[in-house]
Amino acid sequence: MKVYFVGAGPGDPDLITVKGKSLLEEADLIVYAGSLVNPRLLEGRKAELVDSNGQSLEAAYAKIMDALRSGKKVVRLHSGDPSLYGAILEQMKPLEEAGVEVEVVPGVSSLFAASAALKTQLTLKGVSESLIVTRPAGTTLERDELAALSRHGTTLAVFLGIDKIRDIVASLDRPGDTPVAVVYHASWPDQRILLGTLTDIAEKVEAAGISRSALILVGGVVKRTGFGRSHLYRDR
Ligand SMILES: C[S@@+](CC[C@H](N)C(=O)[O-])C[C@H]1O[C@@H](n2cnc3c(N)ncnc32)[C@H](O)[C@@H]1O
Repeated sequence: MKVYFVGAGPGDPDLITVKGKSLLEEADLIVYAGSLVNPRLLEGRKAELVDSNGQSLEAAYAKIMDALRSGKKVVRLHSGDPSLYGAILEQMKPLEEAGVEVEVVPGVSSLFAASAALKTQLTLKGVSESLIVTRPAGTTLERDELAALSRHGTTLAVFLGIDKIRDIVASLDRPGDTPVAVVYHASWPDQRILLGTLTDIAEKVEAAGISRSALILVGGVVKRTGFGRSHLYRDR
């Protein structure tokens, strides 16, 4: 008995891995993570499809165990890469305790789709050599570390926070002219990019009516300027 935890990629159905796509084709049951998984990935599948949104962990577990006991192939499909804000361990542990093998198939995170949309690098010589991935406090996180993390001056990627953009920019300890990009629905046909600074990005996001499914990227890398050449392509 085995469950595959598969990264669906950021939205564009072509951005799933070859392995992930084969598993979707072979699956008898696909439990998928609601609105962030492109329905086109699920079209034409022979599998029974179950949206995990609004389902308890226990209900999904029972469904999966039933399928496994009848010899079915089960895929748990997560948006982007399952290791980022995917809550997979709490799903894997009870399965493993019941003797079920699990395998994680990585995916293209929306973080990488957003940097691709911006045609930039998240680490860029002379601008930022480091990347911090984080999220703001909310219903499922009591306290965040946004202010302290921002003081490192690295590229900062903020997930799960676009509805709190005003509070987020206010809490960052960086100059007001620090560049910020917001990428909505990276790699989807309705992808949108907003560029601004810590001072004006909240206003731009509100004016655009973006309140979900977006990443906030903070730091000089979003401007694509001021970088140095890497050693990689130097004449020797
Ligand atoms: C529960 S997390 C899942 C992240 C996912 N595991 C990943 O690697 O992209 C959901 C958050 O990811 C971000 N997100 C997911 N898909 C996105 C996309 N296509 N474009 C921009 N942000 C996205 C948003 O910040 C959203 O609130």
